[in-house]
Amino acid sequence: MKSLLITKLRDKNTPREQFRSASYHLGSTLAHMTMSRFAKREISVQTPLGEAAGVAFDHPLILVPILRAGLVLLPSFLELFPQAKVGIIGLKRNETTAIADQYYENFPLITREDYIVVLDPMLATGGSAIRSINCLLEKGADIKKIKMVCMIAATEGVQVFKSQFPEVDLILAQEDPTLTDDKFIYPGLGDFGDRFFGTD
Ligand code: PRP
Ligand code: URA
Repeated sequence: MKSLLITKLRDKNTPREQFRSASYHLGSTLAHMTMSRFAKREISVQTPLGEAAGVAFDHPLILVPILRAGLVLLPSFLELFPQAKVGIIGLKRNETTAIADQYYENFPLITREDYIVVLDPMLATGGSAIRSINCLLEKGADIKKIKMVCMIAATEGVQVFKSQFPEVDLILAQEDPTLTDDKFIYPGLGDFGDRFFGTD
């Protein structure tokens, strides 16, 4: 299923409504992958017939979409983690340097107890992801409780990200081999935000 959805997203002839639908489906797959990576608490429940062993997920959780493309992953994650708080960071890559500038932030109080999931469909150089995580660490997050979730990442960015934050759990649907000279993921899918929001 993941590869069908990635193929749909990659294809430059995919119309916007299908691009959006594939994005939401892949978001849901990533949300399930993320849930499976969290430790669960063992509980017991009463069925109509008797007692059954089960598990519960009730960690304090903060979802952090990176504007603007990260917003696309938020609905699927809120569906699976309805108790989560949401913190927002706005970053935009400079079109010449590919370095991300921050233009917005609005976070709930962050403590070392909180589990944090950062959401962004694309990780190219890794600059936006690294900047977001540094921002969370400055606000008091525990590095060991942070997960970074992306649809497609370039190997170069993954290596930079992992060397900076080896403790962060990086969850990807797809890793692509290279970056172009202007720091786009290759073969990638082009500019995710432009294709999803219709600004291309
Ligand atoms: C894209 C993408 C990531 C970033 C990845 O956002 O959504 O945030 O680029 O590139 P990096 O790993 O080299 O930092 P963009 O800056 O284009 O903004 P947008 O979400 O508003 O389209
Ligand atoms: N942002 C995108 O949307 N696509 C890329 O390939 C790189 C950054």
